[in-house]
Amino acid sequence: MPKLTEQQIELLLKAAELAVERAYAPFSKFHVGAAILTQNGEIFSGCNVENSSFGLTNCAERTAIFTAVAAGALSAEHELLAIAVVNREGAACSPCGACRQVIFEFGPEAVVVYRAKSGEMAQTLAKDLLPEGFRLR
Ligand code: THU
Repeated sequence: MPKLTEQQIELLLKAAELAVERAYAPFSKFHVGAAILTQNGEIFSGCNVENSSFGLTNCAERTAIFTAVAAGALSAEHELLAIAVVNREGAACSPCGACRQVIFEFGPEAVVVYRAKSGEMAQTLAKDLLPEGFRLR
């Protein structure tokens, strides 16, 4: 498995930790931050954004990815290299199914950094978190 450098992991986790502070999670009170690394070496972060209409909630991972797309930093030509996700509680938390699909769209080979159920930080490729992932291109 292609691992990230220690420095890349540290930078992503730091960016994700900053994003946690901006989470809007008055309903679940589960504050999440994510940060992505693009092919160009840029980092974008995002937090979860909840809504009174609960189903409209956007996870931190998707906020980070959509922010990068809107900035022109992620596209069919510029893939996602890595994404890290953290939460304020330090609880085990890998990306949800919807986020796995969105991560896969921009980087099947992307390294996903998250706290596993074992309590350890884990690195897993997006394509391994979403076997047989769907992509039209
Ligand atoms: N959440 C994320 O932002 N990312 C995850 O990986 C797991 C869940 C958010 C969604 C919701 O705002 C809260 O955490 C509780 O599910």
